[in-house]
Amino acid sequence: MSASGIRINEVAPRDGLQMESRFVPTADKIAFVDALSDCGFARIEVTSFTSPRAIPALADAEIVLREIRRVPGVTYTALVPNVRGMERAIDSRADELNLVMSCSESHNRANLRMARTASLAQLVEIVRSARGAGVPSNVSLSTAFGCPFEGAVSGDEVARLATALVEAGAAGVTLCDTTGMAAPTEVRALIGRLEGVLPLDAITLHLHDTRGMALANALAALEAGATSFDASCAGLGGCPYAPGASGNVGTELLVHMLACMGRDTGVDLPRLMEVAGRVPALVGRALCNPLLLAGPRSRLHALPA
Ligand code: COA
Ligand code: ZN
Repeated sequence: MSASGIRINEVAPRDGLQMESRFVPTADKIAFVDALSDCGFARIEVTSFTSPRAIPALADAEIVLREIRRVPGVTYTALVPNVRGMERAIDSRADELNLVMSCSESHNRANLRMARTASLAQLVEIVRSARGAGVPSNVSLSTAFGCPFEGAVSGDEVARLATALVEAGAAGVTLCDTTGMAAPTEVRALIGRLEGVLPLDAITLHLHDTRGMALANALAALEAGATSFDASCAGLGGCPYAPGASGNVGTELLVHMLACMGRDTGVDLPRLMEVAGRVPALVGRALCNPLLLAGPRSRLHALPA
């Protein structure tokens, strides 16, 4: 954790790479995670233990998680959708599991091919057995701020799922704006709604920048007392159900904004920008990232002649 208590969870190796149509070679994924490990993150989501048919881009999850260099102080986590995923992740020495289900029924069925009741039952079982094996679980609740199929999602529903999972022993809950539908007022309201369910420092925000509102939403979350954020190096990522959607908020954009506000994140911005600058070559396509184009605001230019 940084001096100011802000924790940044780098999710590009999972949330970013899962969507890439070109398979990123396993050695390149390991080198990417190793480079991110030196940037000062609290947590890195390395991969996902999903069905290789559902997410072929991360079919090499075991090798990646086993072969990365583990930097002391960094928590290496992996996304897990079911019991099979938990077994694979624990076998591959995940420090923590990031379980996933959606707050809306249709998104859960589309993404995980099961009803929410089935997901919730599995996740409760996973939280308990992983805990028994000494591995903590965080739960990512997708579509917490709106569903691309159903529209609005009620805060009561998010609170109901969060309560059940925290009561089962989940260490934290991530509120995911999966397709960038949240507005800052809604972020503030949902955090307020969950304050009675779990401590503020156990809530993480996962904000996609689909409609350019991610940084505004992050600021609203910060002002509501949240201190933990997912972010994706170079803004990598997207969503199969939101055509044209951009990825999670770019980590360098979030770290830069917080630095401009005098808030330390523990992340080494110049080093992170070097890593982000290599991401287009890693995925074989151009990425639109204002900070990589313009540089940090500390970059000064020669006066025009
Ligand atoms: N890891 C590896 N293989 C898995 C698996 C896991 N966690 N879970 C299921 N499988 C395999 C089964 O063994 C089975 O293989 P087979 O056909 O060779 O026998 C196949 O996948 C289908 O199993 P089933 O239980 O019927 O799963 P499903 O097809 O209903 O898919 C999920 C359910 C959850 C596994 C799948 O939808 C999934 O992985 N979704 C992840 C989506 C995702 O990551 N989205 C983005 C992040 S939020
Ligand atoms: Zn995401």
